[in-house]
Amino acid sequence: MRVVLGVSGGIAAYKAALVLRLLTEAGHEVTVVPTAAALRFVGAPTWEALSGRPVTSEVWDEVPSVNHVRLGQEADLVLVAPATADLLARAAHGLANDLLTNTLLTARCPVVLAPAMHTEMWTHAATVANVALLRERGVTVIDPASGRLTGKDSGPGRLPEPEEIVAAALAAAGGSDDAVGSGAQGRLTGRHVVITAGGTREPLDPVRFLGNRSSGKQGYAVAAAAAERGARVTLISANVALPRPPGCEVVEVGSALELQEAVHDALAEGQHPVDVVVMTAAVADFRPAHYTESKIKKTHGEGDESAPVVELVRNPDILAGLVRERGSQDSPYIVGFAAETGDDTGDVLHHARAKLKRKGCDLLVANEVGADKTFGQDTSTVHLLRPGSEDVVTIGPAGKDVIAAGLWDAVAPALPDRA
Ligand code: CTP
Repeated sequence: MRVVLGVSGGIAAYKAALVLRLLTEAGHEVTVVPTAAALRFVGAPTWEALSGRPVTSEVWDEVPSVNHVRLGQEADLVLVAPATADLLARAAHGLANDLLTNTLLTARCPVVLAPAMHTEMWTHAATVANVALLRERGVTVIDPASGRLTGKDSGPGRLPEPEEIVAAALAAAGGSDDAVGSGAQGRLTGRHVVITAGGTREPLDPVRFLGNRSSGKQGYAVAAAAAERGARVTLISANVALPRPPGCEVVEVGSALELQEAVHDALAEGQHPVDVVVMTAAVADFRPAHYTESKIKKTHGEGDESAPVVELVRNPDILAGLVRERGSQDSPYIVGFAAETGDDTGDVLHHARAKLKRKGCDLLVANEVGADKTFGQDTSTVHLLRPGSEDVVTIGPAGKDVIAAGLWDAVAPALPDRA
């Protein structure tokens, strides 16, 4: 694959040397296009030696080959790492004042930007708007990692690890590296996928509910990755406070029963049969037996310490129900998630294997959860388990977008050809 690796002027430019290494070692032909500011951090000889190609920042070099247009036109992937706030702004507004921004304007291939900057710059309204605009246009903008920044401060804004950047970039280009799967088979063009995300809320009264810690980040990353790979995506979203992933049809739900109805509605929609259902949502197993129409009051007298008892009833197991109800040949491929903590009776994998048997789905994605693990975090580790196979594919610790790419790399080749 012909890759243009853009490098803009931030301290994380040194990490792009590792990105370049990973890409060339995987057999890709990489042309590095640093900005003038990037060359103040890492000089041209480093890029030329590692890529084996000449390097320039300006549109005035190699003029006879019309370099400023040719590089973008011929590329199969343009990756910019690190992408500074300035580069994001120039890309969002279509400026073309150096070779990298010319290349971004002429590229018709997947474009992936890996931002890195201080937290204040990343969260500034201007950057937030620029990122939203770029994503709307189909550019993949990888969320930065959280952690130590250049000075003493820390927070979101760190460049993700080079392996994660390469995996996300190759996934966006429709391929992937060996760590997460098998090339162009990962495409989902023409497929309809239904993804549930977030955590259900089971209402007690108009102001209270029983809920859980799920942020929806993993489900949203799975949805975004499916859309990038060409799928039609129905994202059933339960109580998620995240920007909508581009290219997905979002159905908002609250409780487990509403989520079940939305899944059934999507499956019943005859026009475009569903190929895959991914049950990422944390669905409450129980709901209050009675919903009180008005706010529940403390009716006990002064000094009475007794508390009301909330009676619960079982919610349907939506995933197990989907498996039970399928029969015909064109029934969807079903992916379950297992949130496990491990306990005295067994570790995460032990419980995941038991759950795979119980649920009967085609693939189970098991991850370790806890107060400080997975829920709301940007990275996690997951294990992919299939029925009848002892093999376990482990992905991570990695960003949720890398996990999403690995999931689709596992699922896409397993889908039957459409008649
Ligand atoms: N799930 C579901 N309906 C439920 C509960 C869970 O469809 N009522 C789905 C989840 O979306 C997930 C999978 O089942 O894909 C496993 O969820 P998890 O909470 O880990 O499992 P439980 O079935 O709740 O099992 P347990 O609480 O015993 O671990």
